[in-house]
Amino acid sequence: MFVQILTILLVGLYMVEIQKEPVDELEALEEAGNEDELGAFVPVKAEKGESTPDFSSAIHPFLNSIFPVLSIDRELRILYANSACQRLFTGYLNMVGNYFFDVFGKSFEVEAVRNIRNTIIKGQNGYSWKGDARIKFKDMVTVLARVYLFAADLSGKDPGEFVIMFDDVTEENKRLLRSVYMSLLEASKLKDNDTGRHIVRVNYYSRRLAEALHHKAGYDQIDADFIDHIGFLASMHDVGKIGTPDDILNKEGPLNDWEWTIMKEHTKNGAFILSTYPNPMAKEIALSHHERWNGTGYPFQLEGEMIPLSARIVSIADVYDALRMKRSYKPPFSHEKTIREIEKARETQFDPTLVNMFLCISGDFNAIYEENRD
Ligand SMILES: [Fe+2]
Ligand SMILES: [Fe+2]
Repeated sequence: MFVQILTILLVGLYMVEIQKEPVDELEALEEAGNEDELGAFVPVKAEKGESTPDFSSAIHPFLNSIFPVLSIDRELRILYANSACQRLFTGYLNMVGNYFFDVFGKSFEVEAVRNIRNTIIKGQNGYSWKGDARIKFKDMVTVLARVYLFAADLSGKDPGEFVIMFDDVTEENKRLLRSVYMSLLEASKLKDNDTGRHIVRVNYYSRRLAEALHHKAGYDQIDADFIDHIGFLASMHDVGKIGTPDDILNKEGPLNDWEWTIMKEHTKNGAFILSTYPNPMAKEIALSHHERWNGTGYPFQLEGEMIPLSARIVSIADVYDALRMKRSYKPPFSHEKTIREIEKARETQFDPTLVNMFLCISGDFNAIYEENRD
């Protein structure tokens, strides 16, 4: 009899424990979205919109910190975000009052999401976690951040507030990555007959044209990341010339058929060299910047929109600059003459819609050329 009672009691206690299992409870609550049922957790101060933290909040010491910091409660609801945080995530207004994973859910790997939940609810690793996030909000360049999460106060049984600190490593990562490819570009420039600041100007024109297309109908793929990437990767268009023999690259006068065949290989060589670059745009530009709208370009005679948008943009930027420059086979063209040449090649060489946009902003192309003369 005593054993039966003890068993019933133990099973009963176990059931109570299971019912209290925070992860399950949290998930059920999140699904239910019922404010009343959240009463089992610490009280929620946050309401959607701006908030001013009181002095007892863990975020208070970080209010004017240069580090983006926010605080959440045990339900993973955002309580406060300091001004550095608001500045970093300008694409997301009013994060306060929202659930952390409703705002940042897509920024973490599945394993990280699980660990963050277990850290907060089960106290895994002494209520602390660190990891990486790729945070992308509308109209914002993707932010790469090292994320640190820790309990604000461990003196009680279960901490009620947690601090999340973001270390923005976007620029650091970008600088490191781009410096490697810049070295490659410098090496290729030693061989190429494109002189001086050609590649810098092609970056600027391409960026400008992409900016002008941003938010225009039919150009959904152009966002802040696209603009940022093309503004660097356009300069890589001829990196494959590092594999082109010098006598062909620097030949005075026209190339014969065989030499042209070798010359055209620079597109495929460039794509091969840039295949390790994390963004596929690098490869697209190198491979397709000599394709033509009417399908007569190289290396694959792609036609129309089969040619990647990034390559269609760089193609106009590259030709504009090449025409403006003095080459061994031609004098420098004026801005007006260059415009006429590009207009003539609308629908044969270039995407006609892009040419229209180019014509609208051609004054900026001229300014970029003048400001960055060799
Ligand atoms: Fe090229
Ligand atoms: Fe070029």
